[in-house]
Amino acid sequence: MTTEFDLGALLAERGAERYELHTKYLNPQLPRMLHTIGFDKVYERGEGAHFFDADGNDYLDMLAGFGVMGLGRHHPVVRKALHDVLDAGLADLTRFDCQPLPGLLAERLLAHSPHLDRVFFGNSGTEAVETALKFARYATGRPRILYCDHAFHGLTTGSLSVNGEDGFRDGFAPLLPDTAVPLGDLDALARELKKGDVAGLIVEPIQGKGVHEAPPGYLRAAQELLRRHKALLIADEVQTGLGRTGDFYAYQHEDGVEPDLVCVAKALSGGYVPVGATLGRDWIFRKVYSSMDRVLVHSASFGSNAQAMAAGLAVLSVMENEQIVAGVRRTGDLLKARLTALVDRYELLADVRGRGLMIGIEFGRPSSLKLRGRWTMLQAARKGLFAQMVVVPLLQRHRILTQVSGDHLEVIKLIPPLVVDEADVDRFLTAFTAVMDDAHSGGGLMWDFGKTLIKQAVANR
Ligand SMILES: Cc1ncc(COP(=O)(O)O)c(C=O)c1O
Repeated sequence: MTTEFDLGALLAERGAERYELHTKYLNPQLPRMLHTIGFDKVYERGEGAHFFDADGNDYLDMLAGFGVMGLGRHHPVVRKALHDVLDAGLADLTRFDCQPLPGLLAERLLAHSPHLDRVFFGNSGTEAVETALKFARYATGRPRILYCDHAFHGLTTGSLSVNGEDGFRDGFAPLLPDTAVPLGDLDALARELKKGDVAGLIVEPIQGKGVHEAPPGYLRAAQELLRRHKALLIADEVQTGLGRTGDFYAYQHEDGVEPDLVCVAKALSGGYVPVGATLGRDWIFRKVYSSMDRVLVHSASFGSNAQAMAAGLAVLSVMENEQIVAGVRRTGDLLKARLTALVDRYELLADVRGRGLMIGIEFGRPSSLKLRGRWTMLQAARKGLFAQMVVVPLLQRHRILTQVSGDHLEVIKLIPPLVVDEADVDRFLTAFTAVMDDAHSGGGLMWDFGKTLIKQAVANR
């Protein structure tokens, strides 16, 4: 008998039990939901913007693992960096030395936001947000953080306190005493700031839920208001950062926006290693870490680990060498233009919005009587069912993975790996057009599936 651990043998022996193991030991609603919508596939391998099932069928990934696979799966440069860092046998995480990789990654990351000076490395998006909330409070000496309606900043308790959707918050109270303002509403922001207890405003330049952009000029004007009241602007770039929207950071779309704190995570490590980073101004860090006694006042056991740092350095290097941001602009513009051209053709298609490779497709009430009846029936059961009716055949019939962009939203969000090409855009448009043709024909499999969804929605009430 061998005592060695053999991963290949384990997967060969027990990989087929994956759905049962989840049902038995993990969140049981995941396999349940996947069975219900027929998403219970077995994927064997991934490469770039595609993954493959056991029969070798190729799937187009328009979700990128909720955005972590910025460079697609298994980019050779990131993969090699990880092999190299393991092979280097570093004395990592001694915690009482200064390793070179965190400093090098901070230096490289900060080059993309020259007005910022320092970085805290954690392990996830929500941790990057928690760090920003704590730093803003400590640095300003004020307790309250403002956030936007419909915002998503992560699901740990601090981040949950600045979450703009009740569905995530309900049942977890009491949360921190923070206050929501509508995205784009400067008067509401000014009213709250006047109370004098606000540490900062946290904002996604493009909201992940629903793909809503901050209106032109809002971030700049909000920044001025915040400065006037000595409060901080916190940009949550966990999803929008690292090229996603056609700029390195989405806040850079507009001149003159210089957030005091910027949260980064997801794509920074190429999808391999959990990582988060909070970038900020020197004075904020100096205040939080104001003495030797406070050296560990905010820290994380796995923060700055060598694998995450090496992967991050490799990702930034690939982004530069392969001109990823310019590519995102090109492919994103093409995808958005081709989708926008369909709005006049399909009465169920209401809007196409977003920037770069973060695109929202919104469905809306059709004008013809025939479709309106069906639409109204779906809406009465649950908002968001039509979008689900589109997502399902995109995977089932066309092998394209997408997602509904939030609970009760008739919006599909496309956040593919940034390396998708014109052929992928063509494939998506062909599939989407076929699904929309089907929906507008008013009959067929798609509306039958809609009835199944209605039954489930009603049964779940
Ligand atoms: C804007 C934004 N902030 C924070 C988070 C939380 O990141 P994580 O899931 O890594 O905790 C997300 C995740 O989707 C996000 O989109």
